[in-house]
Amino acid sequence: MIWYDTIEQNNLTLHLKPISIRDLFYFQYSPATIFYINNDKIFQEIYKKDSPINKEALSFIIKKTDGNIFIDSYEYEEIKNHQQENLRKTIRSISMSKNSKNIKRLINLLSLNLKYLYQNPQSDDQLNLQYQSIISTFNLVLENEEILPFLFQEIYNQQHYYIINQPLISSLNLIRFLLKQNFYNKKEMESLFITSYFKDIGMSSIPFENYEGVIKTEREKKIFSNHPNVSVKYLFGRLPLNLSNLNIIKHHHVYHSLINKDLKQIKSENNESIILGFETLLVSVMDIIAGMTSKRPFRETKSLFESLIVIKKIMIKDYPKEFTVLVNFFKRFFVKR
Ligand SMILES: [Fe+2]
Repeated sequence: MIWYDTIEQNNLTLHLKPISIRDLFYFQYSPATIFYINNDKIFQEIYKKDSPINKEALSFIIKKTDGNIFIDSYEYEEIKNHQQENLRKTIRSISMSKNSKNIKRLINLLSLNLKYLYQNPQSDDQLNLQYQSIISTFNLVLENEEILPFLFQEIYNQQHYYIINQPLISSLNLIRFLLKQNFYNKKEMESLFITSYFKDIGMSSIPFENYEGVIKTEREKKIFSNHPNVSVKYLFGRLPLNLSNLNIIKHHHVYHSLINKDLKQIKSENNESIILGFETLLVSVMDIIAGMTSKRPFRETKSLFESLIVIKKIMIKDYPKEFTVLVNFFKRFFVKR
């Protein structure tokens, strides 16, 4: 490499930002010049800005780069704006036509925009869009319960990162369960759905690359265990969540601890009093099941049956009847995906 190449490479290192192939979906023309790191560990241009984007182009880029692509960071903002607009349009069109193409698009764009929100949880634009979209998704499910199996199938097929998939899987399972039980009215179900969906926004304080491995250092453990508090900080006053919703979010991991400890022990380890209700339990249980049955880079995926064995440890003492209801509810899904 000659000296002026080195300057160019240094410049690229400063300005380039990794993106995913999905960020390029729904573009007709490439919104940016795309780079990858070649065998000589040098940034190399692979696709020019404004070149057509179609299936062939995406396959070519994936084949050449293994999906490890980069663009100039200032162009990322434009991509996010475009995908925000795409999500808005999809929500509008789904209200008129609930065909499978629109539903696939909804799952993809909802997930993509959730990633943008995790990257910038302070953005009111992203938060409001997620909120509006998740309300629309809730109404869509409520009015068309029969689309739930397709929704789940699509979420698993699309294989978004687990941290992005998990809130939607757990919240949809929660709503599917609530719809069967007739415990709550529509407003209460909507409120629990939103609470469950946004409970992990505090995870955005953990850099994305750290999700790849098991949490090892004390600092990482602290950041992780504090994510429910961070979620409350991000959501307080920004979304219409009442105090009991925020309490559910704040304590949504306490039940996870009940797998190894009992409530007395947990309470004695916490200086503040813990308010736990049945809603917190439901949100936590759906979160644990979604987590255990999701594909993660560092943990073996468990079956639904195995996850219920864990849930039994949490529920059997205080909620034996409700545990039976839960098992009966999940029984019909005891098939391998
Ligand atoms: Fe969490």
